[in-house]
Amino acid sequence: MRIAVVGTGYVGLVTGTCFSEVGIDVTCIDIDTTKIENLKKGILPIYEPGLEEMVLRNTQKERLSFSTDLASSIQGCDAAFIAVGTPPGEDGSADLKYVLAVARAIGHHMNDYLVVVTKSTVPVGTAQKVRQAIEEELAARGADIPFDVASNPEFLKEGAAIEDFLKPDRIVVGVASEKAEDVMTKLYKPFLMNGHPLIFMDIPSAEMTKYAANAMLATKISFMNDIANLCEIMGADVNMVRRGIGSDARIGNKFIYPGIGYGGSCFPKDVKALIRTAGENGYEMRVLKSVEEVNEHQKSVLFNKISAHFNGNLAGKTFAIWGLSFKPKTDDMREAPSLVIIKKLLEQGAQVKAYDPVAMEEAKHSLGDTIQYGKDEYETLIDADALLLVTEWPEFRSPNFTVASKLMKDKVVFDGRNIYDAKDLNEKGFTYYGIGVKQ
Ligand code: UGA
Repeated sequence: MRIAVVGTGYVGLVTGTCFSEVGIDVTCIDIDTTKIENLKKGILPIYEPGLEEMVLRNTQKERLSFSTDLASSIQGCDAAFIAVGTPPGEDGSADLKYVLAVARAIGHHMNDYLVVVTKSTVPVGTAQKVRQAIEEELAARGADIPFDVASNPEFLKEGAAIEDFLKPDRIVVGVASEKAEDVMTKLYKPFLMNGHPLIFMDIPSAEMTKYAANAMLATKISFMNDIANLCEIMGADVNMVRRGIGSDARIGNKFIYPGIGYGGSCFPKDVKALIRTAGENGYEMRVLKSVEEVNEHQKSVLFNKISAHFNGNLAGKTFAIWGLSFKPKTDDMREAPSLVIIKKLLEQGAQVKAYDPVAMEEAKHSLGDTIQYGKDEYETLIDADALLLVTEWPEFRSPNFTVASKLMKDKVVFDGRNIYDAKDLNEKGFTYYGIGVKQ
């Protein structure tokens, strides 16, 4: 089998590389020449555990190649995956200009039957627009070449993308012909060894599945954040409540961890897009509107605790921040709650010294020299008035608090992810604040 993957961002690169890993001949295409030249040298535009090694291995075996030339790369392919960006436009809707430009380019250059697969997260109805764009291009050059469109949403988590791709919980594919179903079955067969299903459905349902999945997960998080805030008021401990409800299989124990709000490139964007799609079609997503509202509020919760502890007097104080990325094992800073917290602290005249194992370079794009960057987590603690745990990287889980207490000016910990034990820290002389736990 042979495929082309257009777009070497997060989704495209992981998809192309993992397909090549099982022996499929893959060309990853991008219009960004520098990106392609770097990829040919094994330099990746993103950080994702295990990806670099996999790219190198498959490039060496000549199953994976990189090109800026879409016209020649799609020839002889069974399928072309569109995995380019869909940035939110000014009004919050997904901007389809890149997706449709790729569709037109495919229509302009294809010479044989092809399944054109949308892999980017796109609103319901996009596959139909992709079909139209290809038809128009074919008609313009008087070509009568058969093709199919398919929708194949991705459910990868950053930081665990390779594992998620190679051993998926499920693969969802929207198709409108048996021929397309046949091609997609052959492509995905190597990934179904764990017995999990390849689910075929109509195209709009596949497009909707992606949004419904992310919206449901975001709902779980906002719901737990709301419960956590109430626990605090009522003197309950959300860690206990979480364990209590999570053991009910109908609820499940995943994605019910309270914190400082969800971030990243997916949940905030997809929740907004679904609210908008519904609105445009005369329906109001009442639950999701609240999910968004709770999330916005949650990003301020840690700051509010800090402000209350220091009686609103933050000017001249120094705060150590551990973790900047929106979640561990990624350098992704998009919609990271750390940015909201840092902005609020700086506005109050406080100073920030941050450390993140991977995301500091990325963070500098938005934070520049408004904050200081530590060479490791302990360095940030020197003379700090408090420690703020913002991203729960594994290396922050069990620090040496005896060393920490000697470095810090004041022994206060604000734990935005509930990874530390309040009792243990209190015994070591620290004042501890968590989310949804007794102070
Ligand atoms: C999410 C989905 O989990 C993937 O299935 C989906 O493919 C992806 O979006 C996408 O649409 O591309 P991702 O954004 O990488 O993946 O990150 P998650 O691990 O889902 O975390 C999202 C946010 O929720 C993070 O800010 C995390 O800290 C927060 N979160 C997660 C919580 O606050 N509590 C939890 O219990 C779980």
